[in-house]
Amino acid sequence: MSARKGKSKGRRPFHRIRDPAKAPRGDKERTSPPEESRPAPDGGRSGTPAPRAQPPRAQPPRAQPPRTPSSRKSPRTPPPLPPTGWIPDVSALVGPIKELAAERYTPARMRGQKVPLAEIHRDGLRMLNKGFTSDRDDRNAGYLSGPRARGAYLVYYTFTGAATVQSVLRQADLRGAWNDFPTDRPLRVLDLGAGPLTATLGLATAWPDIPLDVTAVDGAKAALNDGAALLEAIRPGTKVRLEAGNLRNGKLRQRLGSDYDVVLLANVLNEFPETVRRERTRGEDSGESPAQRLLRDVLENRLAPGGRVVIVETGQRASSRLLIALRDSLIAGEQAEVIAPCLGAVTCPLGAAHSRDWCHADQPWRRPRPVAALDRMLSRRRDTLKFSYLVLSRPGEGAPPARDTWRLIGGPMGRPGMTTRRYACGPTGRIVCVDERGSTDFHDIPRGDLLIASGEPRKGGPRGEMELRVGRNRQGGSR
Ligand SMILES: C[S@@+](CC[C@H](N)C(=O)[O-])C[C@H]1O[C@@H](n2cnc3c(N)ncnc32)[C@H](O)[C@@H]1O
Repeated sequence: MSARKGKSKGRRPFHRIRDPAKAPRGDKERTSPPEESRPAPDGGRSGTPAPRAQPPRAQPPRAQPPRTPSSRKSPRTPPPLPPTGWIPDVSALVGPIKELAAERYTPARMRGQKVPLAEIHRDGLRMLNKGFTSDRDDRNAGYLSGPRARGAYLVYYTFTGAATVQSVLRQADLRGAWNDFPTDRPLRVLDLGAGPLTATLGLATAWPDIPLDVTAVDGAKAALNDGAALLEAIRPGTKVRLEAGNLRNGKLRQRLGSDYDVVLLANVLNEFPETVRRERTRGEDSGESPAQRLLRDVLENRLAPGGRVVIVETGQRASSRLLIALRDSLIAGEQAEVIAPCLGAVTCPLGAAHSRDWCHADQPWRRPRPVAALDRMLSRRRDTLKFSYLVLSRPGEGAPPARDTWRLIGGPMGRPGMTTRRYACGPTGRIVCVDERGSTDFHDIPRGDLLIASGEPRKGGPRGEMELRVGRNRQGGSR
């Protein structure tokens, strides 16, 4: 492990449940869980059945801190952050994005009038949102070629997307678990379906100490140009090559060359409509879907030995199930090794064809002002980043998962202070982790982070799942 690798910004995604008796004073005094750590409205699940519903119980009245002018609730008051610490930081992008939006995406009649950014881009964002939630076949493929959509994308999704990529890099522990992380030259990054280089910007802000050599491909040239301007603003002098064109075009892909250390595919595979609507394209000899073909090309021809492919999609069920299907087919075809989020399970325990389950992470963050302002205008709130992802290497080039490590794939089921269960995934598949004390530590771990807990899961879950007791039981003994 190199010195540079060890300097990775942000804590690694591992958590242990501490003995409450030894918890620092501040933790023991906290009576109210932060907003993000309360049981999720879906019962803490991603479409998974609840093992046992906990009946709501009367809670003792909570001590309220005295109200001061600064603690009074106002629409601008940010939600409390989890005590678990890490949140993404995209503050470096705020100034450059505002400047670029003012320069390129403010209508001439509004220039010099101090019209809030959110007002300028509200309708564009509405239009984009409608497209993102509609049937993919209906979406205009070149939507980022129009300035209205591009401006709105820039001031909203570039922030959420870059913050999501930071979260993925951390949850996957990409640098920490990468033994041959290149240290003697710039990291070679290929960003496919890059848009305004959102994913590259996420990586550049997550790893500010790593020099980069970037190649970005997209059908929308103007979006690539925006991204290059932003990268230059936060990382002056970074080498960037832009390729405008269709990713399905084999000749274009060949032109990209090979030996990339990191290949990023953020929110692009779901733009291949057939990928979502059917697993296989009609009438094609190989039987591969376009997404499978693109990934095969990336793994066989674009990736450097030891390199990593990072695929990011939304936290919605359809996106996650698309990734689960890709994952299982890549493993079955011995085309790739999955480094994260999976910890060694051969087939995804949520992947059965009839299953409605899905797997997503849920990372608390603090919205940058432009995002919060647009959310207010559209009467919504995006306090956490929900996403699904895959980090791949070629077979045999990944790293074995850390011992006694489980990824939490469900939110807490149970209240703090009472027996709490959370779904987790590990080498043997899905299990239920049980903390009889319902410690706030256990509640507060973001969905998608890793729990270190020794011991063997045993039969006993209410739905026949294996259960692992974590932390200490009520009598004070470790299980
Ligand atoms: C939702 S945007 C994601 C952009 C960026 N990766 C991000 O995460 O913000 C999807 C991008 O993929 C691009 N795209 C979709 N299909 C493509 C194709 N076949 N060839 C090139 N670009 C494509 C679109 O132009 C768009 O910029």
